[in-house]
Amino acid sequence: MADVVRVEPEGDVAVVVIDNPPINASSLSVRAGILAAVEAAAADPAVNAVVLIGAGSTFIAGADLKEFGQPLADPQNPAVIAAIEACAKPVVAALHGAALGGGFEIALGCDARVALAETKVGLPEVTLGIIPGAGGTQRLPRLTGIPKAVELVCKGARIGTEEALALGMIDAVAPAELRAAAVAHARAMIGKNRLRDRPVPDASPEAIEAAAAAALKAGRGRPAVRAAIAAITVAAETPIDEGLAAERAAFQELRTSREARALRHQFFAEREAAKLPGLDAKPRPLARVAVLGAGTMGTGIAISSLDAGLPVTLVEQDAAALDRGRARISDFYAGRVARGALTAEAAAAREGRLTPTLDWDSLGEVDLVIEAVFEDLDVKREVFKRLDAVARPGAVLASNTSYLDLDAIAAATSRPEDVVGLHFFSPANVMRLLEVVRGAKTAPDTLATGLALGRRLGKVSVVSGNAFGFIGNRIYAAYRRQCEFLLEEGASPAEVDAALEGFGFAMGPFAVGDMSGLDIAWRMRQSTAASRDPSHRYVTIPDRLCEAGRLGRKTGAGYYRYEDGKRQPDPATVAIIDAARAEKGIVPRAIAAEEIVERALLAMVNEACLLLGEGVAPRASDVDVVLTNGYGFPKWEGGPVFWATERGAAMVARNLDRLEEASGAGFQRGDLAAIFAAEPV
Ligand code: NAI
Repeated sequence: MADVVRVEPEGDVAVVVIDNPPINASSLSVRAGILAAVEAAAADPAVNAVVLIGAGSTFIAGADLKEFGQPLADPQNPAVIAAIEACAKPVVAALHGAALGGGFEIALGCDARVALAETKVGLPEVTLGIIPGAGGTQRLPRLTGIPKAVELVCKGARIGTEEALALGMIDAVAPAELRAAAVAHARAMIGKNRLRDRPVPDASPEAIEAAAAAALKAGRGRPAVRAAIAAITVAAETPIDEGLAAERAAFQELRTSREARALRHQFFAEREAAKLPGLDAKPRPLARVAVLGAGTMGTGIAISSLDAGLPVTLVEQDAAALDRGRARISDFYAGRVARGALTAEAAAAREGRLTPTLDWDSLGEVDLVIEAVFEDLDVKREVFKRLDAVARPGAVLASNTSYLDLDAIAAATSRPEDVVGLHFFSPANVMRLLEVVRGAKTAPDTLATGLALGRRLGKVSVVSGNAFGFIGNRIYAAYRRQCEFLLEEGASPAEVDAALEGFGFAMGPFAVGDMSGLDIAWRMRQSTAASRDPSHRYVTIPDRLCEAGRLGRKTGAGYYRYEDGKRQPDPATVAIIDAARAEKGIVPRAIAAEEIVERALLAMVNEACLLLGEGVAPRASDVDVVLTNGYGFPKWEGGPVFWATERGAAMVARNLDRLEEASGAGFQRGDLAAIFAAEPV
């Protein structure tokens, strides 16, 4: 037996230690080891009880990533759990760190679960496009009841010890000394307490129906969510062995689905994103941060940092703006307390770490400053000049600019090596994406500190080169431009949005434009108008809308008209679009949803190839991480590059020819070899 599992006898209790660093993943050798240890303990007359415990910092935190998507070798988790249940002696799972997925299913197979405070338990399989496949959908509802099990499994929730105890998912919290507590618990257990023998607690059909409807809505009706609901809801009516068999069959089917493949791709892409090949510099210390500018972004970044336990100095240029920012942060925490998402003490502790001030000298005390003032190069350069004068040597100076040239900002300081871009997305305390922008002179340890901050804030960080719009905004601009072409050729805003929402985007591009305000892009176009090549295809519709005062939701109308917050097609927009088409002599044609999706996504793929060719995006998978985490691209499609590679090089190349032709003059074509490197194009 491999030594990833060893047995340490404690009197009459066999303590089975799982020692498979770093996360005690349930690899084949671990499964075989537990099975052998439990069978040996069952047969050994000197053993009266068994404890399963993880060595190091965690219980079995989850599956072995190397086995993801591969055929599973025997013994598999159901066989391990069957042996635990068949053992006539009590088996207790001692949980610390994380017990997730298959790890928590093994714990559910035990007779009791004892956990240290701060342990996370849960069944996150649905987030990977599958369902629990080793009894999770049958045993969990026997503890929590069906409605709660539906909610937890469909969300893929990871919950803490307190909630797990309240829901019966664990039996006791160990004050300290987990192993001793679990051994005592095992000794004190009389007889077996198998979950499989328990009835599912009663729940009204209405409660089950409501939980299922809420889970379907939140999970956007994806196949794994539907399968999870089906598996859990039969638990009450079906003998457990039938329920287990049905669950396993659904699990096996989903494992090989395209959706599960896409979500696995996302999972690995996110893990890779923050590891930049060749970057081995250590991050600088990060004990206190400052945010400069208390507007929309500054307050969001401050909240994100406060939530992560960092003390934050918030600096503004005038008292009124500072007060507004401070009030926004207070209101945010008050709202969370009111909704029961945070205790009043926790909220007070977080707010207590905030120091709002007008005093720039206080910036001398921090390790990292994030500038979030107006998007104007002169203003930012002036701010960085002042920062240079007050920041302590070695402090990291970061800018949240969306488009501006980071090197031009860095050049305003005497220490461009300390300058990095930290491009947060709005709302900054909610959105997971962080583009960490590397300037020409950014030092490796400055970049490493930006990535370390991202980790600390729980963000998914992607490194981008310093190019206009970085990765995300540049790809999004190419996509939006293509959607404008479609508009000009005959589609309506509602048709374009419906097609892309049908594909899975949270919102179509024109609805997004109306929401963010059309004037931002308008101002940008005005500032670059002089350098625009007049021979390139240019759609005038967005300009015409702005000239007519239709700036989006904030003015009540943009691409759509807004009534009670709901978007409605607007004849006035139709008239503007008709006039713009007529001016160019375009006869509108009907455009199918399929063409809309194809062209919009291919435009993204093409821009991704350009960015990869230019070295702005380090890896193709990073593009997928950016689009899914920052721009509403459906995760279950894996991201634009994954979407393209799934269709194959030949088809993408053919359709790209058509896209190039349809896009007219000025279309710059990327090299598909950037994403099909492993396959002949
Ligand atoms: P905002 O207008 O809401 O806030 C800017 C704040 O900076 C204002 O409160 C202003 O008083 C303050 N400020 C201006 N000059 C200052 C100075 N010299 N010293 C101290 N404070 C000063 O703007 P928002 O939307 O928060 O944007 C800030 C930055 O974040 C911009 O660079 C923008 O491009 C970027 N960004 C914005 C996103 C968005 O969705 N709004 C998304 C990602 C980045």
